[in-house]
Amino acid sequence: MKKVHIKSFGCQMNVYDGQRMADILSEQGYEETATPEGADLILLNTCHIRDRAVQKVYTELGKLRDLKVAQKANGQHTKIVVAGCVAQAEGAEIQRRQPAVDLVVGPQAYHRLPALLAEAASRRTVDTDLPIDDKFGYLPAPTPKAIRQRGISAFVTVQEGCDKFCAFCVVPYTRGAEFSRPVAQIMTEIERLAASGVQDVTLIGQNVNAYHGEGPGHGEGPGHSQGPGGAVWGLARLMQRVAEVPGIGRIRYTTSHPRDMADDLIAAHRDLPQLMPFLHLPVQAGSDRILAAMNRKHTADEYRRLIERIRAARPDIALSSDFIVGFPGESDSDFEDTLRLVDEIGFASSYSFKYSPRPGTPAADLGEQVAPEVMSERLLRLQERIEHHRQAFNHAMVGRTVEVLLERVGRHPGQLAGKTPYLQAVQIETESNQIGDRVQVVIERAGSNSLFGRKAGPDEVPRKGLAA
Ligand code: 5AD
Ligand code: SF4
Repeated sequence: MKKVHIKSFGCQMNVYDGQRMADILSEQGYEETATPEGADLILLNTCHIRDRAVQKVYTELGKLRDLKVAQKANGQHTKIVVAGCVAQAEGAEIQRRQPAVDLVVGPQAYHRLPALLAEAASRRTVDTDLPIDDKFGYLPAPTPKAIRQRGISAFVTVQEGCDKFCAFCVVPYTRGAEFSRPVAQIMTEIERLAASGVQDVTLIGQNVNAYHGEGPGHGEGPGHSQGPGGAVWGLARLMQRVAEVPGIGRIRYTTSHPRDMADDLIAAHRDLPQLMPFLHLPVQAGSDRILAAMNRKHTADEYRRLIERIRAARPDIALSSDFIVGFPGESDSDFEDTLRLVDEIGFASSYSFKYSPRPGTPAADLGEQVAPEVMSERLLRLQERIEHHRQAFNHAMVGRTVEVLLERVGRHPGQLAGKTPYLQAVQIETESNQIGDRVQVVIERAGSNSLFGRKAGPDEVPRKGLAA
């Protein structure tokens, strides 16, 4: 068998795409290998969201060129493929900067990989079309063995692309216009995953809560509307159907835009037991002036009110966000507004980034770029606040009993590791359990990155109907 090494950078969709490419290549006689050394095909699945992510790709390509040369000296021909968002954004420029690259393939052309590899055997090849045909219809199903190797949690892309055009963001250009997969196609994929042992699915999309896929039935009732080909389903309706799949015990979705938190989606956090109490809902900034300049289409107060409604539906929900510091024109007082919002909401966790001007985005041309040292100082202060709230959230778990889904072996012998409904990592000592079990765990201690607990006794398990 030929060997392929796939390395994914960036977001969860790249992880998903990497697996789909592995499935396609598996049909071509490739098996995956964990290291680039010895691989016949090396595939970098790249991220273009910030300049640093792009620089990482070129650094990695430099190392791979050396490996390719060394393997050639041993008589092995190695092909290097660049896929993902850098491929889409930079196309042939990648091969100009790094001639060792054989093939550049954008995120909408994966299903053509076998043909492109054949073409790349004789000449350097680029395919970055954003075709309107549905690539998902061409992707092969993973084998049950591949599913089992990937574990009991899976990502499933339900939506791709974005029409929001936030002023800083490359996604509408690299992933294209918003597209929702049809309900039936998603259900086939999830049923197959569940049949091979997957219990925990995260529905993913760049703007996942804008999901509006073609589904069965008529366009009436909550979460439905009428489209040209029949009913159009919203995300809440889709998740109700996913929850009916035997074996699927946990559902999450990411990433969402505040403007697309529909009423039925908020209600699902109250009504759908499989929907986990965790929501990644990026706000980016806390100042109305900056939110407007970012083209986020909502104010800080609208976000606060939205959070109130979500918490009314699910009081214990864990919230997370992304933040950008140093967006062009951000003043000290704008930044203070962001800190205030962070303290008011009390996010369970968050990602934060320095603004990175991206070629082709509206914000890249704005004057008033913030000085790098100001950005660094703001990022540090923001991260200190985010960390404070994360620790507070984790420490508040100590003494509580929560359900943990055991997902992998733990750090030490006799330990298994899993996640709480709030997406916190937990380690427990257990002899009697195995991966895939859902166990009631008393949290005894909060470390800096994990919780530690023990199995709950029968009288420590919360009664049904009470929040865990
Ligand atoms: N600079 C910094 N951060 C960015 N993000 C997106 N574009 C940029 C940029 N140009 C961040 C946003 C987004 C997350 C995925 O990446 O916070 O939510
Ligand atoms: Fe980018 Fe998200 Fe804004 Fe879409 S909603 S443009 S993906 S930051």
